[in-house]
Amino acid sequence: MHEFKIVKNLEEMGRAGAAILAEEIRKKPDLILGLATGSSPITLYRELVRMHKEEGLDFSSVRTINLDEYVGLPVDHPQSYRTFMNEHLFDHINIDSNNTWLPDGMAEDLDEEWSRYDALVNTLGGIDVQLLGIGPNGHIGFNEPSDEFSNHTQVVPLTRETIAANARFFHSLSEVPREAITLDIRHIMQANKIVLVATRNKEEILRKALQGHITSQIPASVLQLHRDLTVIFSEGE
Ligand code: GLP
Repeated sequence: MHEFKIVKNLEEMGRAGAAILAEEIRKKPDLILGLATGSSPITLYRELVRMHKEEGLDFSSVRTINLDEYVGLPVDHPQSYRTFMNEHLFDHINIDSNNTWLPDGMAEDLDEEWSRYDALVNTLGGIDVQLLGIGPNGHIGFNEPSDEFSNHTQVVPLTRETIAANARFFHSLSEVPREAITLDIRHIMQANKIVLVATRNKEEILRKALQGHITSQIPASVLQLHRDLTVIFSEGE
């Protein structure tokens, strides 16, 4: 099943995406949620927080696996993905912080860290619902354009384009980490359900990814092969 929803603005995008996640959480309270960072999911997280506070959406048994983390940023760095998740979601809902996982970008042995993270996803039995954004170059997680689709969690060098795109969150370009640990395409594709949220600046890359050839040069294009994909596109701010 592929569904493509066009909504008017970011608030509506957040509501539509959160409604799907909330329904899955109600059906399976201990589900494994695959989570993403970036500006696109912010309104969705805000809506989940609202649903928790006003409607009692219960996260007490939910387990979360984030897609990625920068290498070299301490967890309490303002731009670490752990900080992002705490600020936008975890600190405002009744999730057990022991049930929230992100890669450790400060691990001394990064190879060991990605294998640990890879094994963790396997031990948990895979991802039930995966939330995704899409990078301006078509990356998902930090699976950057490359000659082949990666099939193991790994440390990846970020492309110049991604470093430039993410520089807006840092004081200067030189502060943007050059590497990240990311879950791979295989873990993403094995999720039972995928929800991708995209803002209007992604229209062109989204069209290429969803309507063009499937190619590892546009990692998100592989989503065409997923059995249960919902794309929510906001045409306004
Ligand atoms: C980041 C993240 C991705 C995210 C993408 C788009 O680099 N690693 O998971 O989907 O870039 O971010 P944004 O929504 O801010 O455009």
